[in-house]
Amino acid sequence: MILDYEGYEVLTAPTGEDGIAQAEREAPDLVFLDVKMPGMDGLEVLQRLRHLVEVTPIVVISGHGTVSTAVEATKLGAFDFIEKPLERERVLVMVRNAVDSRRLRTENRSFKRDAEKRYQIVGDSPLLARVRESIAKAAPTSATVLIWGESGVGKELVARAIHRESLRRDGPFVQVNCAAIPDELIESELFGHEKGSFTGATDRQIGKFEQADKGTIFLDEIGDMSLKTQAKVLRVLQEQELERLGSNRIIKVDVRVIAATNKNLEEEIIKSTFREDLFYRLNVIPIHVPALRDRKDDLAALVRHFADLFSKENNFRRKTFTTGAMQRLMQHHWRGNIRELRNFVERIIIMSPGDQIDVKDMPDFTGARPADTASSLLIAGNGPAASTSPASGGNDWMGASTLQEFKSTSERAFLVNKLRENTWNISKTAEVIDTPRSNLYKKLEQYQISQESDG
Ligand SMILES: Nc1ncnc2c1ncn2[C@@H]1O[C@H](COP(=O)(O)OP(=O)(O)OP(=O)(O)O)[C@@H](O)[C@H]1O
Ligand SMILES: [Mg+2]
Repeated sequence: MILDYEGYEVLTAPTGEDGIAQAEREAPDLVFLDVKMPGMDGLEVLQRLRHLVEVTPIVVISGHGTVSTAVEATKLGAFDFIEKPLERERVLVMVRNAVDSRRLRTENRSFKRDAEKRYQIVGDSPLLARVRESIAKAAPTSATVLIWGESGVGKELVARAIHRESLRRDGPFVQVNCAAIPDELIESELFGHEKGSFTGATDRQIGKFEQADKGTIFLDEIGDMSLKTQAKVLRVLQEQELERLGSNRIIKVDVRVIAATNKNLEEEIIKSTFREDLFYRLNVIPIHVPALRDRKDDLAALVRHFADLFSKENNFRRKTFTTGAMQRLMQHHWRGNIRELRNFVERIIIMSPGDQIDVKDMPDFTGARPADTASSLLIAGNGPAASTSPASGGNDWMGASTLQEFKSTSERAFLVNKLRENTWNISKTAEVIDTPRSNLYKKLEQYQISQESDG
C-alpha cells in the first residue's frame, strides 16, 4: 500500500515459486522478499533469483530481526535487509537507494559492453586464430608479453585483450606510447618525480608504473625507447620496484608488462640501439600479429564490421559491399593494414550515396599496385623488419600512420629514385641532391638501401 500510494507499480506473490516466475516474466526494478514463507524459504528464493535477474536489487524482509539471517542474506547477494514492522519512511528510502544502484549497475555494464565492442578482435583466419590462442595462454599468467607486427595490425587490441582476460582485469590498464614522449620526459612519465626534482617539476607526479599497480602497463613502440630508459625499465621488470625522480625511496609495484613494437628488436640489438637483456626479459611470451595481406580471410568480416560500425555512427542504413568491390579490396596490398582498411571503409561509407557499395563507388581506389612489389624488393634482409621498414612505392602514403613514418617513407623513396637516375653513383647522386656524401652514406645505411637489393 505504501508503494502503491507513492505511484510505484506493485506485483505480489504468495509463494517463492510464484515470485520467481513473476520476476522472470516482469523483470522488476526491485524485489522485496520475505524470509519465512510456505514452501521455498526466502534465502533459497534469493539464491535462485540472483542467477535469474542479476542486476535487480533484492531487499530481504526479516521477521524477527535475526542478525544471522541478515548477514547470510547479504552474503547471498541481497542489496539490503529491513525489519518488520515496516516503517513507511525506511521503505521509501530503501526503494530510492536500490533503484539508483540498479541504474548505476546497468549503466556500468553498458559502458563495459561498449568498450568491449570497441576493442573487439574481428576475423576468423587461421593466423588470427593462432593469435587468439596465444592471448588465451598468456592472459592468466603474469608473464611479460612482447607483441610485434607491422603498423596497424592490431597490436594494441591484442594487449587490451590480454589484460581483459587476465586476473588483473579489474585493475588498471595503463598505456604509454614511448615514441610520442620526448626523451627528456619519458623517465618522469614512467617513474614519476618529486616536486622540485628538476626545473619545471612544480608538483609531484605519480608515474605510469605506479598508476598501473595491480594492473597492466602497456609499453607501446618500445623500440623507440632510449638506452638509458631501457636500463631503468629493466630494473622495474627484474625487481618490481622503482624510485621517483628526485627521491631515494624505493616503491614496490605489482605490474604486468606488455610491450609492443613494429621494429625488429633483434636487428636493433645488433645496431646497439636496444638492450639484449631487456629484449629477453620482455620476450617471455612473443606474439606476432600478422599483416593483413597475409590473412585475407579476415578481410570480409572486417569490412562488414567496420561498415556496420560507421553506418551506425553516421545514422545510415546498413551499407554493404558488392562481390566486385570486395574482390577489389582483396587485391589491395594494405600496407597500412587494418588501420588503412578501417579508414578506407569509413570514408567510403560516408561518401557513397547508395546502400550498396560497388567498384564504381571507389574510383580513387587502385587495388594492387605494381609499385608495392617493386618496393618490397628494395628492402634488404628478412625477418619482421623486412616487412615493416618504411618502404618506397608510388605516392601511397596511406601506409604511414605517423608523420615520422611518412617522412622516412618518402625520404627513402626519393633517395632510391635519385640513385637509379644516377646509375647508383653515390658521389654524383650526392651532388645532384645537394647533400654531403657522408650524409648520403648514412641514409643508405639507415634505410638499408643498396643496389643489390634493387632487383
Ligand atoms: N582484428 C581486428 N578487428 C577489429 N578491428 C581491428 C582489428 N585489428 C585492428 N583493428 C583496428 O585497427 C586499428 C589499428 O589497430 P591497433 O591500433 O591495435 O594497431 P597497432 O598494431 O597497435 O598499430 P601501430 O603499430 O600503428 O600502433 C584500430 O582502430 C583497431 O581497432
Ligand atoms: Mg599501436
